[in-house]
Amino acid sequence: MGGITAEPVEDYLYSLLPPRDEVLAEMEAQAARHDIPIVGPVVARILYELAIMSGAKTVFEMGSAIGYSTIWWARAVGKGGRIFYTDGDSNNADQARKYFERAGVADRITVAVGDALELLSEQKQEFDIIFNDVDKEDYPRVFRIALARLRKGGLFVTDNVLWSGRVAHQNPADNSTKAILEFNRLLYGSPDLFTTILPVRDGVAVAIKK
Ligand SMILES: C[S@@+](CC[C@H](N)C(=O)[O-])C[C@H]1O[C@@H](n2cnc3c(N)ncnc32)[C@H](O)[C@@H]1O
Repeated sequence: MGGITAEPVEDYLYSLLPPRDEVLAEMEAQAARHDIPIVGPVVARILYELAIMSGAKTVFEMGSAIGYSTIWWARAVGKGGRIFYTDGDSNNADQARKYFERAGVADRITVAVGDALELLSEQKQEFDIIFNDVDKEDYPRVFRIALARLRKGGLFVTDNVLWSGRVAHQNPADNSTKAILEFNRLLYGSPDLFTTILPVRDGVAVAIKK
């Protein structure tokens, strides 16, 4: 996934990164081997910084796969923070639990298997950050649910909002691109949000709730 940055520039960005620890490095290798679409270390560092800069303590993650981005959030919020991992695939959750133990962050992560949109709707609390990385066709529905569960001043962060550049095609026919286009319009059109898309990797939208 990706392809919106010229390849030599992309390679340069990755060449700057310090090595990750054993657990994250193993997860990156597993993701590459099995085509698991994780955010990867360049975007993960943005997530980590956003949590630290905003002083976030609670993060609800929608679409967590093997838990790579989850570990970055968990490390950023520190002890006393709480991350909600969600994924529809119980096999992903089983793998993620093992990685969380090894990464030393299992005690600050709640693992839930099911539809992330339903799981978020059921929450009574408001979150400091909601991270959206589910199936793209659901993005417009996520927008409506997430806004209600985000605290004032909280961040709504979404991956893949440039969808390998397909958002810029004339009259895209596929449903994922159409849904992302609608989602991005909703983000920028909302009087309740202030949004910027960072054109890094596949595009990361960062919206703050006013
Ligand atoms: C792009 S991957 C997540 C990668 C992860 N955020 C990371 O960067 O490490 C998307 C994941 O979301 C899950 N998923 C997609 N739609 C979902 C939904 N509505 N509810 C729960 N999980 C969903 C898929 O099973 C898949 O594992």
